[in-house]
Amino acid sequence: MEKEKLSAEIRRLAKDRKALILAHNYQPPEIQDIADLVGDSLELSLKAAQTEAEVIVFCGVLFMAETAHIVSPEKIVLFPAPQACCAMASMITPEDVRALREAHPGAPVVTYVNSYAEVKAESDICCTSANVVRVIATLPEKEIICLPDMNLAQYAQRFFPDKKIIYFEGFCPFHHLLTPEEVKRAKEAHPEALFIAHPECRPEVIDLADHVASTSGMLKFCRESEHREFIIGTEVGLLYPLRKQNPDKKFYPASENMVCEAMKLTTLELVYQALEKMEPRVEVPEDIRKRALRAVKRMLEIPR
Ligand code: 13P
Ligand code: SF4
Repeated sequence: MEKEKLSAEIRRLAKDRKALILAHNYQPPEIQDIADLVGDSLELSLKAAQTEAEVIVFCGVLFMAETAHIVSPEKIVLFPAPQACCAMASMITPEDVRALREAHPGAPVVTYVNSYAEVKAESDICCTSANVVRVIATLPEKEIICLPDMNLAQYAQRFFPDKKIIYFEGFCPFHHLLTPEEVKRAKEAHPEALFIAHPECRPEVIDLADHVASTSGMLKFCRESEHREFIIGTEVGLLYPLRKQNPDKKFYPASENMVCEAMKLTTLELVYQALEKMEPRVEVPEDIRKRALRAVKRMLEIPR
C-alpha cells in the first residue's frame, strides 16, 4: 500500500479500535505524522496515564511501552516494533540497583525512565530528562543514587552543590559519542548558531551548550527563541519536528552519527498490522508492575 493510503487506513483503524497512537520525538517522520501525540518521555507517560482510549499504540522503544502499561494496566498496549530496545536501558539490572543500595544505605534511588520495569521496581522515584532536577529537589537526603545514565546524573549534580549524586556507569551510546571537538567544529562552521544539548551528552559537551533540555524542551526552546540557527546535540530524529515547526529557522545536527537504530524500527506497515491483529502487546508482570508503579507515580505527581 502506498504511504498516504496506509496512513489513512491506520487512522481509520485507530478510530475503530478506540486507540491512541503515541510517538516519541525521534520516531521516523511518517510515524510522527500519524500519531495523536508526539512527545518526550514525560509527556508520553503522562498521556498514557490520563487517556480514556482503550488501546495505546506505542511507537518508541520498549521501556516507553512498558511505562504505558505500568500506569494504565487496564488498557491494551500495542508495541508494533518489539525488537526496539533502548541500549542504555539494557545496561543495568535489578541486582546492580540492590548493590548500590547496599553500598549507600539510606540514599534514595532516582531511576531514569530509560530503564526496564524490574529496575524501576527497585527504585524510589523515577525521573525523565525533563524533570530530573525537579525530582531530586523533592528529596531531603544529602546522598542520592541516580541511575542508569551517568551523564544525566552528572548533569543533575550541577544543580545540587550540597548533595552528592552517586551514579551508575550507564550511558546512551548515541549521545555519549558526541565529542566537544565535534561541537567546536560545528560551532566554527555555524558561528551564528546556538548549541542545544540533551542531558544524556557527556559533561564536556554540556559545558559548551547554550541550552540543555529534553527533546520536547529543545523543541520549545527553538520555537520561542529569537535566534535563527541551532546546532542540535541529540538524536537526529528530532530534526524533523524542529524543521516542521520552524520552517524559517536552520537546524544542523552536531553529529550525523547520533542515530538510535531502535527508534527507526517502527514502520507504517507494522503499526497497521499491530492495530489489525491487536498484537504484539506489552504487559509487565503484575508483581513488578505494582512495585514499578510506585516510583513512576511518585514522579508523575510532581507538578510540571
Ligand atoms: P526525552 O525524554 O528527552 O525525549 O529523551 C528520551 C531519550 O531516549 C533520549 O535519548
Ligand atoms: Fe535509548 Fe539512547 Fe535510543 Fe534514547 S537515543 S532510546 S537513550 S539508546
